[in-house]
Amino acid sequence: MPWKQFFAKKSLDVLLEEMAGEHRLRRVLGPVALSSLGIGAIIGTGIFVLTGVAARQHAGPGLILSFVIAGVACAFAALCYAEFASMAPIAGSAYTYAYVSLGELIAWIIGWDLVLEYAMASATVANGWSNYFLKFLALFKTPAGKALVSIPMWLTMDPYTAARQHSDYLAAEHLVVESAVAAPLTENAAMVLPLPKDSPHDRVRDVSVAFTAESVAKATAAVAGVHGDKVAQAAVERVRTAMQEQLQYEPKLALGEKLAQVRDDNRHGFEAYAETPLVIGGIHFTFNIVAIAIAAVITTILVIGIRESAGFNAAMVLVKLGAVLFVIFVGLRWVDIRNWTPFVPYGFNGVLSGAAIIFFAYIGFDSVSTHAEEARNPSVDVPIGIISSLAICTVLYIAVAAVITGMVPYPHIAINAPVADAFRQKGLEIAAAIITVGALTGITSVLLVMLLSQPRVLLAMARDGLLPPGFFGAVHPRFRTPHKATILTGVFCAVAAAFFPLEGLSHMVNIGTLFAFVVVCSAVWLMRRLNPTAERPFRTPAVYIVAPAGIAMCLWLMFHLGRDTWLRLVVWLAIGLVIYLFYGRRHSHLGKELRGEIARHGVSPAGVPLDGPTDAQGPTEAPATP
Ligand code: ALA
Repeated sequence: MPWKQFFAKKSLDVLLEEMAGEHRLRRVLGPVALSSLGIGAIIGTGIFVLTGVAARQHAGPGLILSFVIAGVACAFAALCYAEFASMAPIAGSAYTYAYVSLGELIAWIIGWDLVLEYAMASATVANGWSNYFLKFLALFKTPAGKALVSIPMWLTMDPYTAARQHSDYLAAEHLVVESAVAAPLTENAAMVLPLPKDSPHDRVRDVSVAFTAESVAKATAAVAGVHGDKVAQAAVERVRTAMQEQLQYEPKLALGEKLAQVRDDNRHGFEAYAETPLVIGGIHFTFNIVAIAIAAVITTILVIGIRESAGFNAAMVLVKLGAVLFVIFVGLRWVDIRNWTPFVPYGFNGVLSGAAIIFFAYIGFDSVSTHAEEARNPSVDVPIGIISSLAICTVLYIAVAAVITGMVPYPHIAINAPVADAFRQKGLEIAAAIITVGALTGITSVLLVMLLSQPRVLLAMARDGLLPPGFFGAVHPRFRTPHKATILTGVFCAVAAAFFPLEGLSHMVNIGTLFAFVVVCSAVWLMRRLNPTAERPFRTPAVYIVAPAGIAMCLWLMFHLGRDTWLRLVVWLAIGLVIYLFYGRRHSHLGKELRGEIARHGVSPAGVPLDGPTDAQGPTEAPATP
């Protein structure tokens, strides 16, 4: 086993030399363009879509705290990213940093892991985009009130969500509530403020819903007939949980009415599943054609070139910042602070799960570092881009979370398009329409940056020989863009967005990105010891506190992402390892160099024999890697 190659590090000097070479990307981005790329990558599906699930099912109004916690974790990582980006301002981001500090194997793992961050995030974002696009289409109606343009349901949803919603709809249709008991909210004094006597909400906690045995049998049989026994039992449980969540706020409303509401929440998937003509071997195939379409459009724009896309991005960033400020200032008038009670209905663990979910909303500030090679003055402008974009978004997010949870009781926050829906629930249709357009624009800009970042990481890996350079390293002769890798990323994004659910995708992205952050924080810390004299135009302040704190917080959030997500991460990394062992290890330029040195001198360039010490040769004159 060539262990030495696994831990062989790329020299920082070699990196900097490579930057001066031929065939580089064009240096056209200044600090404002880089910050705008950062904001372009940050504000999107996370705040406009995932806020719904995080508030309603995990954190409640404690979502405000979730945003603070995830923001702090990102701030630590951002400070570390900024130092590394200033030291090695070259395309490749965390991958390049790991190659310089931790060696080839870890660098490969990170590069492979970044596919989760960028390509998988693109898929998540394209999926979220489709939610708002459907709301956007719904704005256009005929005088008779019918939709002007409508897309068949089975072309608007992934097959997993359609099957789940179909089973839940069927279950809710057959269930009958027998009883619902609850404890008054004010008993939970340790966690919440007492409600005023005249509270219109009359809230409770610990709602427990029981269905009649007969209806459970009927619902289970109805679902099991289509989806099997296990799914049927899970569906009944999900309906019970959804009822309980809703009843926390309006326990006195008719139970049957609540059940009908739960059923209607699942109508979209029910219809998509039922109407699809693509039924193969009993599986009802539905897919999200809207997500495919947006992925195709953005990929085409990116193949044409970065300057054009940076201008396009700046315009979209202005629109989405306008939309976010609109949400904050218009929504403020509708905030009822009683909606913040109970503040943490699912306890502090719920707040942390919420933070692990909405962490997605912060992803993107690090993508600034993948554009270092296109920056005019990378060692100064890239740290500015990373830190300023994260700081601006953190403040905006906390404000949006406070406004949305203040406007709408958390069990009523919509899952698909929660921000626009909060305004619709207040009867503010025009405001909802403005937000829908702003969100759509904002999410588009995230997609643009994510799809822009992935090919650049692949390009950096191909240049080191870890991926086939003919494909991943190809730069278009006229557009000067990595066109082949961009098209491949676009196809991956379209397929994943069309066939997988938003939540599952976002969890994978989060765990992958958190893992990358852990490595970056470790690498910066390590580099201070291994290469203390290297030039660092930006130094992470108090690195001995910031780096370990970043590592600890990211790991803490990772542990709140659930076993299945961890399992998927392990499988993903294992696939990557196989590719490395069979391709990257053999073709790596650094590996070849090491083997050449061994053949010539019996020792590696670092003066260390590959397979243990040898008496025949002393240390060579070859340059040492830092
Ligand atoms: N932070 C980006 C978003 O929320 C990925 O869409």
